[in-house]
Formats: sequence, C-alpha cells, structure tokens
Amino acid sequence: SNPSLTNSGLPSIIRKKLMGYVGFANLPNQVHRKSVRKGFQFTAMVVGESGLGKSTLINTLFNTTLYSPKEPLPPSAERPKTVAIESIGADIEENGVRLHLTVVDTPGFGDFVNNDDSWKPIVENIESRFDSYLEQENRVNRTKVVDNRVHACLYFIQPTGHSLKEIDIEFMRRLHTKVNLIPVIAKADTMTEEEVAEFKERILSDISHHNIQIFQAPTYDNEDEETVSEAEEIASKIPFAVVGSDKVVRAPDGRQVRGRAYPWGVVEVDNEEHCDFVKLRQMLIRTYMEELREYTNDVLYENWRTEKLLGMGVAQDSTVFKEINPAARMQEERILHEAKLAKMEAEMKMVFQQKVQEKEAKLKQSEEELYARHKDMKDALEKQRADLEEKKRKIESGRPITPEKNTSGRRKGFLRT
Ligand code: GTP
Repeated sequence: SNPSLTNSGLPSIIRKKLMGYVGFANLPNQVHRKSVRKGFQFTAMVVGESGLGKSTLINTLFNTTLYSPKEPLPPSAERPKTVAIESIGADIEENGVRLHLTVVDTPGFGDFVNNDDSWKPIVENIESRFDSYLEQENRVNRTKVVDNRVHACLYFIQPTGHSLKEIDIEFMRRLHTKVNLIPVIAKADTMTEEEVAEFKERILSDISHHNIQIFQAPTYDNEDEETVSEAEEIASKIPFAVVGSDKVVRAPDGRQVRGRAYPWGVVEVDNEEHCDFVKLRQMLIRTYMEELREYTNDVLYENWRTEKLLGMGVAQDSTVFKEINPAARMQEERILHEAKLAKMEAEMKMVFQQKVQEKEAKLKQSEEELYARHKDMKDALEKQRADLEEKKRKIESGRPITPEKNTSGRRKGFLRT
C-alpha cells in the first residue's frame, strides 16, 4: 500500500527537520505588511433609544469626533416617524495602521408610541448589506469587493435597574442570527455599583431565557494562559456597563482624565474600577475586531447565504465538498448564475405576454367598435330602405304621401280652382 496515505485515504503529515534557514518563518511578517498596506474595514452599528449616549460612546471609543455633539431633544420636539438609518465613515490611523471605520446609526429606534416593528428596518438594512456582498461575489470580476456588512452591533440598554424591556428582547431575538450582538448598559454612572451588578445578572438571565446568542469571545485549545484569562475577564464583564464622555476633566488627584464630573466626584471613562469602557474597547477593537469580522463572514453571512440560495432552489450535497473542491464551487456559481438568467428570462416572458395581451385586448376593442359602427350604419341604411320602400308602395298605390285633406273632402292636388 502507499505509505504516505493513512487508512482514511488522506495524506499523513511527515515531520521533517530543516537543514538550514528556508525563510517561511517570515510569512507572518509578509501577511502583516500586506494587511497594513491594504488597511482594514470595519462596520459597527449602534442601536438604542434616543439620548442613551450612542454618539458620545462612539466618539469616546475611537477617540475622534465622528459625531458632533447634539443637544438632547426637548420634550416638545417632534418625534421621528420611522427608524432612519444613517451611516458615516471615517478613515482613522494609529501607528501607521489605517482603519476605514463605518458607523451605522439608527435614530428613532424605540422612540415611538408603538415600537412593535422598530427592529424591522434594521434587519432589512443588515440583510441588504449581505445581499450586496453576495451580488459582488457573483460578479464576473470580483477583485474589488467592498465589505459593507455590519461586523458588530452595540445594543444600548437603558439603565433602569429592572430587567430587559419587551423591545430589547424582541430586537435581540430578531437580530442575533444576523449580527454579532454586544449588549451595553448605557450611562452606567447613573447607577451604583451594586445596582449595576444586579442589573447585569438580570439581563443575562433574560438573554439566556430567550435563547439569545450574544457575541462570545472564542477560545482555542492551544492558547496560552494569559490570553485565556484575558478572554475570561472580558467575558465576565458582559453586558458592559459603559460611560461615555468626550470631555477631559480634572480628577481629585489633579490628573486630566476623560470622564464626567459630578459634585460627589469624577467618573473616569478609562478607569476599569469605574466602568467597563476599557473592556468594551478591548473586545471591539484591540483583541477581537478580527474575530468579529471573521465570525460575521464565516458564520453569520454563510448561514444567511446558504438559506438564501436554498430558498432560490440551489441545492448542494455537502458543504465540506464545496470547500475543498473548486469545481463544486464553480458549479454552484454557475447554478446561481443560471438561476439568475432563468429569472430574467421568466421576467422577460412575463412582460412580453403582458404586452401581447394588452395589444390583443386593444385590437378586440377596436374590432368591437368597428363592428358596432358597421351595425349602426347597416341598421340606418336598412331603415332608410324600408322608408323608401314604404314611400314607393304608397306612390304606386296612388295614395298621397301626406294624407292632408281639404274642406270638400277631396284631396288636395286633384282640385284646380
Ligand atoms: P440620539 O442622537 O438622540 O439618538 O442620542 P444618542 O444616544 O446619540 O445620545 P448622545 O450621545 O447625543 O447623548 C445624549 C446626552 O447624554 C448628552 O447630553 C450626553 O452628554 C449625555 N451622555 C452621553 N453619555 C453619557 C454617559 O455615559 N453618562 C451620562 N450621565 N450622560 C451621558
């Protein structure tokens, strides 16, 4: 038998010692240089009721003024009628690494008297981004694919101290299979430490009760202790109780810090004793940005795509087969393309048929009109003929056409005076 094949038929790995330096140890550096040159794309979405500090937190997270400060809405102000979706982009750079950041804001969410469908435009927005990606993947030339998919969704929970509201649960239930959900407790400085701890517990139990999947930092088997404990620490803070501020204030010991000043003291944004802002930033940017992107692509988008294609009637025996077999992949793309063509053809046929029907209907109508006109004319002629016939008969029978009589009883015209 072939010694390089195991029983399963797969080639076995033969470990060899290198005799000297070959150079592939430098591969990670090549990848590093390349990605730095290309830059990164990241799209975050923020959802939550108005005034919970979404814009402020985004500014605090990326340390820029992506959003200009807004005055809180006066109670008399007109409320928005729908959930509008706005996105702003910014290129930011840190130590030579460029990041194209897009923030998708959803003003109006939860601001209505009836919030039953607040989640709908948001789901539609996320799905249309998947759609656009799928469409780009299926282009003949796909060297320039723009990734506008939402990689993370920060969901702002009002610091009520009770439990999650109906709207919170509904939103998360609808969205958790489509986006990485990261729940945060907004304006945590308005609650005491104990209140925050209790609130977190209640939120987590609500989330698990409704089988909602929030983003979990992945753990790998071969990871070192430090990474594992870092991941555990981040996970232990979910849902992050955050405080946002783009102002620098003076701490009691004289330091200048980002924070919020109160008569009783200063809440520091970047102090882990005061709030979970640092851990949130670590999860979203420093440690797991790539994981968020990967999970979006490999799991969330992939599931959505499979469902979509199956819905379009594209079938496939084995996903594993597809991954290792480029021919299967091409076949799948061909099927997709053919489905598209068939759809176009069906549409064209339909339009054609519709046009023919319209024409036929028109022809029939004018035919009927012609027929009606013809009949009218025929009837008129018939009548005229009958009249003439009648006149002729009368003349022939010697009777006057108009039976006008004179006083003598004789007929006019026969008397000459
Ligand atoms: P919309 O744009 O209306 O959706 O509001 P938003 O959620 O973007 O809130 P925004 O960031 O505009 O903040 C609203 C108000 O809350 C502002 O006056 C902020 O200064 C204040 N604010 C923001 N973050 C915090 C926070 O962490 N704690 C406290 N106490 N106030 C905050």
